[in-house]
Amino acid sequence: MTQGTTIFERMSALCRNSDAVNLGQGFPDLPDPPELIEAARRALVDRSNQYPPMRGLAELRAAVCTYYGQTQGLALDPSEVIVTSGATEALAASILALVEPGDEVICVQPLYDAYVPLIERAGGIPVFVDLKPPAWDLDIGALAEAITPRTAMILLNTPNNPTGTMLPRATLEAIGQLAEAYDLIVLCDEVWEGMVFDGTPHISPLAIPSLRQRSVKVSSAGKIFSLTGWKIGWAVAAPELAERIAARHQFLTFTTPTPLQWAVADGLSLGRDWLAAHAARYFLGRRALIKGLTEAGYSLLPASATWFVTVDLAASGFTQEDAVVAERLVSEGGVGSIPVSAFYAQNPQTSYLRLCFCKTAETLTEAVERLARFRVQQSG
Ligand SMILES: Cc1ncc(COP(=O)(O)O)c(C=O)c1O
Repeated sequence: MTQGTTIFERMSALCRNSDAVNLGQGFPDLPDPPELIEAARRALVDRSNQYPPMRGLAELRAAVCTYYGQTQGLALDPSEVIVTSGATEALAASILALVEPGDEVICVQPLYDAYVPLIERAGGIPVFVDLKPPAWDLDIGALAEAITPRTAMILLNTPNNPTGTMLPRATLEAIGQLAEAYDLIVLCDEVWEGMVFDGTPHISPLAIPSLRQRSVKVSSAGKIFSLTGWKIGWAVAAPELAERIAARHQFLTFTTPTPLQWAVADGLSLGRDWLAAHAARYFLGRRALIKGLTEAGYSLLPASATWFVTVDLAASGFTQEDAVVAERLVSEGGVGSIPVSAFYAQNPQTSYLRLCFCKTAETLTEAVERLARFRVQQSG
């Protein structure tokens, strides 16, 4: 993991420069939700294009609270919500606010690529604990062992990108006990909370009583509404933590585009059924990709959330490492993917490939045909 161009950018550029189908970077090619586009148009024309309040429009902060009340049973106050320029800025503001130079931050691998550079920018020291495939469980014993007197924060990502798995309540409760015992903050990246497919509920650390006052929940309207370019996100935390995060946010971006804040507030107010129907649009692609890959002889790991499936390369008959297979798949097979090893800062797993299903039926059919041919070439 370097601070050069990310694997997502590089794979997308490779796909653009050839005729490869891009199942690498997670962005949808399905039509945008028209209700949100219309809400943005209304906001641009009829509402304000001037600076919003630094912490975000009151209407959006209230809508975020209502949304979490309806979908996750959380009782939140708008004073606990800070609207940011995407989840990335919420992560940056939270880490810069809550990590002091020399603090250790426990990061769970595989991890999203922004975490380590942000921790290092704050002067913090990342310490790594790994999820264990194939179920990608978090070993609480290993987590406890990683805690030292310098540990300040545990950084979680549930639902997890790239694995598509979620931390169960029992694991979060165990983390809560450790956080209380060692006075730690839990920063939880929950951007995939709206894309859960098998009925298992997503649990936020904010829903765990021992973590309620010591957790920061980060999310993104880009993922909830599949509008990744909008870059509207938020951090939600108890008032004392929120205060510190807001103080950092004001000198990172200060505010986030007003019309899109209005549009996201309107979108969140569409209600639970609309949001469930929106997420269900991706269920078809997920089913098609899983079925197509399985029929083509690929072995997949179980996952219940996100826009991704994970191919187990060794179990699918591949002997090379994931990065090599990904390079060959894009150049010889015409399909972009992301090697899961790219989500590690150290000691990577090297036998898994992430493929994205938030695409039209035509895109996925073409991708599956190419992947099937590629696998036959490997074994031929
Ligand atoms: C785990 C995770 N966190 C954060 C982000 C970034 O979200 P945003 O685009 O809102 O900054 C992503 C985007 O893919 C992600 O997968």
